[in-house]
Order: sequence, then C-alpha cells, then structure tokens
Amino acid sequence: MSYTTLLTTLENGILIIVINRPDKLNALNKDVFIDLNTVLDEIEKNAEIKSVIITGAGPKAFVAGADISEFNALSKQEAMALAKRGQDTFARIENSSKPIVGAVNGFALGGGCELAMSCHFRVASENAKFGQPEVNLGLIPGYGGTQRLVQLIGKGKAMELLMSAHMIDAAEAKQLGLVNYVTTPETLLEHTKKILDIINSKAPLAVAGCIKGVNAVFDETKDGYALEVEEFGNTFATEDMKEGTAAFLEKRKANFRGK
Ligand code: COA
Repeated sequence: MSYTTLLTTLENGILIIVINRPDKLNALNKDVFIDLNTVLDEIEKNAEIKSVIITGAGPKAFVAGADISEFNALSKQEAMALAKRGQDTFARIENSSKPIVGAVNGFALGGGCELAMSCHFRVASENAKFGQPEVNLGLIPGYGGTQRLVQLIGKGKAMELLMSAHMIDAAEAKQLGLVNYVTTPETLLEHTKKILDIINSKAPLAVAGCIKGVNAVFDETKDGYALEVEEFGNTFATEDMKEGTAAFLEKRKANFRGK
C-alpha cells in the first residue's frame, strides 16, 4: 500500500507509520486524514499487523498541528465538518482493536497532541514538546483535545494548558502521565518496539478486550463493568484461552493465534 503523506513499514508484526510532511513539521492536512483512514482500514484487515507505532518524519516534529493554511477561509459549518472528520479519525485510532502507540519525536502541538492522545499510550523522546496552542490562533482544539487532555492529566492542569497555550517538555509530560516513558531520540523507536514485542506475544483477542474495557471508562453510553463481564466471558470461548491456560499448567510458553 502506498500513501501520499505517510511512510509505512511492517517489521515483526509492528506497522510503523511515519507522518511524512517534514517541511511543514508534519502538519495534518486533508491528504493526511485521507491516508490515515486508508491505513486504519489496512490495520483492521491485515492479519500480519499485530500492533502499530505512529511517529513523525524528521528530527523536529511529531506533528505540529492541523494544517493552519487550510483554516483561514472556512465557514462555521465547514469548520465543524473539519473537526468532526478529525474526531472520527482519532476515534478510530482510540478504538482500534490492535494496540496503537504514539512515538513522539518532537513537537506534538494542537492536532499533533490530539493525535498522540488518541493513541493507546505514548512514548516520547527527550526533545518532545506537547501543547494545545489553539487559543493563540483564536480557536479551540477540535480533534478531541478538550476531552482527552482532561482524561489523561486531570481537569486543573488541562484547563491551564488549554487556556494558556503553554508548551510542556517530555519530562513534565511524563510527570503528568501524558507519556509512559522518555527516551533519547535515537532509542525512541527501539524502546517503543520492545514494549510492543511484549504485547504482541500475548493473546490478541484478550489485548483487544483490554482496550475495549479501558475505553468504556470514558464512554458515557457504556457500562464498563457490564462490558468487562461480557468481554471476560468472550475470552472463554477463544482457542487462545484454552491454549494460555493449558500452557501454564504444562509449564510451557503459550502459542497464541488470535482465535
Ligand atoms: N500548519 C501549517 N504549517 C505549519 C504548521 C501548522 N500547524 N506548523 C508548522 N508549519 C510550517 C511553517 O509554516 C513552516 O513552513 P514554511 O517553511 O513554508 O514557512 C514550516 O512548517 C516550519 O515551521 P517554522 O515555524 O518555520 O519552524 P520553527 O522551528 O520556527 O517553529 C513551531 C516551530 C512548532 C513552534 C511553529 O511552527 C508553530 O508554532 N507551529 C504552529 C503550531 C500550532 O499552532 N499548532 C496548532 C494548529 S491548530
């Protein structure tokens, strides 16, 4: 599969997606959203893809935001459609049954911070910078930033960052729980791949059940405890559950097949 704005490589079951507009600090324009939706279709369909890393091209930026050059002439209705498209795309990332991790290699601002937050978790390099600078432009986040930032770092700090446009560095992002690990720029991808190698060795349907359960916490339309009961039950109807429990009892390594 080839894309206009993305580079992709599949290694050991891990699909690495690089947002590739380095001369514009990987800003998210219309074409990036088209490509992201196409790659999300591919992730769902392709059984060789077990998990995914999203990162940015070049040494400077993960994604420096939505492409501001597409904003200027928009009407209110068009702006709402743009926000909805962004939210729908990021909801697909968040609800992917396969783990998607953000490897944040530089500026993650505005839509870039929102993209990173839609991933299941994040690893950052030391030079990463996070922020929602929309108020500098006279607007607010439109791709879920006012919601997910609160979920990840709490109301008070989210309010401050959103209202002040203040940028935080990787160390502060880790302290706030926005990222799980901080690495050197050189080791960012290796470190992220190591985490995914571990996750990829687990039962894929059980991993997908964990994603569903955790996401239900933040979905008012769902009863997370009831969903957990159902997902727990579902795992008992899988071959992998029989294999995992048998392997434990036989003191051998389980061989999961995602069935
Ligand atoms: N949309 C469109 N273009 C962007 C962009 C964005 N969000 N962010 C950066 N670019 C472009 C710049 O216009 C510039 O293009 P040019 O070389 O054709 O002029 C190029 O990327 C490099 O950016 P530049 O601003 O020269 O780099 P810098 O190192 O001086 O500053 C930032 C880096 C991230 C601080 C600065 O680019 C910035 O503030 N970007 C916008 C961040 C933002 O407000 N995001 C939220 C959008 S809703």
